[in-house]
Amino acid sequence: MNKIVISTGGGDAPGLNAVIFAVVKSATKLGWDVYGSRHGYRGFLDRDEMVRLTPADVEGITPIGGTILGTTNKGNPFSMPVKNFAGEEKLVNVSDKVMEGFRRMGFGCHIAVGGDGSLEIAHRFAELGMPVIGVPKTIDNDLEATDRTFGFDTAVSTATEALDKLHSTAKSHDRVMVVEVMGRDSGWIALYSGISGGADVILLPELPFDMDAVCAKITENELNGKHYAIVVVAEGAKEEGGEVRNRGKGETGREEALLGGIGEWVAEEIRQRIGKDTRSLVLGHLQRGGSPTTFDRLLALRFGSAAVRMAAEGLFDRMVAWTPPNMSAVLLEDAICCRKQVDLESDKVLTARSIGICLGDKE
Ligand code: F6P
Repeated sequence: MNKIVISTGGGDAPGLNAVIFAVVKSATKLGWDVYGSRHGYRGFLDRDEMVRLTPADVEGITPIGGTILGTTNKGNPFSMPVKNFAGEEKLVNVSDKVMEGFRRMGFGCHIAVGGDGSLEIAHRFAELGMPVIGVPKTIDNDLEATDRTFGFDTAVSTATEALDKLHSTAKSHDRVMVVEVMGRDSGWIALYSGISGGADVILLPELPFDMDAVCAKITENELNGKHYAIVVVAEGAKEEGGEVRNRGKGETGREEALLGGIGEWVAEEIRQRIGKDTRSLVLGHLQRGGSPTTFDRLLALRFGSAAVRMAAEGLFDRMVAWTPPNMSAVLLEDAICCRKQVDLESDKVLTARSIGICLGDKE
């Protein structure tokens, strides 16, 4: 092993640069050369998109949000949008070209930083013979096999700060503020920020909600002299018997639908049912931006350096997992098998209920 490559794929998350920093520093210390593939796998297909990364190149990037390598969520090499001469976009399998590029450039290992989609792609390349190590990234914190993904803590801090700010305006106007946060399959951001930010109602993808229960909580507030409320809704939450709201498929090559709209819908239902003034807002990509928190920086740096240690030991087709107090190597296959969801019997959920937060069900 004397030459490795790192790529960042899927939606960005605060802490990506810290992983890159740790990989470059740790690998250089072992005498290896490090390269970065820009925008996911693009560097394997186009030499101009493969950049050499030296310690000087990564100096000072740890606190910076985003990724210096760029990323994409429409760059699956097994189904990549490619334009033909007529300018039409077609989905093409270019995985053999990626394998060819990987071999031609002489890499001994690929460190793939990504969420469930990117890690699944990484596993498929491992099956084709690429020595791959995954690093778990997603603000949604929904990856099985690791206690945490980096980016989540920063997203929760951003959402909590937003909730803190909404209290005063909600109170001044006697309004219900409905805040839609990210969380496609799991309600971790909604739960953590909702409890910490003093929400009255938290709606999770794990627990389909009942609008009667939501309105009953707001009415109960009224009877107790509290004339405003904060409702936190995960984008993947849905009403009992209802569907997750989405805004269509998005760009060609993107595998998941663009979620959104549930916050606005809940706000309108509350207004119609109990006549309260409501406003809704979507925190959206604010949650993915900005400088990583100390927690996320440290976690990301630990992930990056553990990935290099795994490469040195030849532990491929695996993902670095945080299994407190230490890092461990889990099979990529096990890491991508299922989503980590909020356990409705967990201490955090019990805490929410005992401090009077409604979870949209009739307890
Ligand atoms: O997977 C992370 C995530 O932030 C989801 O919560 C959200 O649905 C999605 O990314 C948004 O992706 P995009 O940046 O493509 O809109």
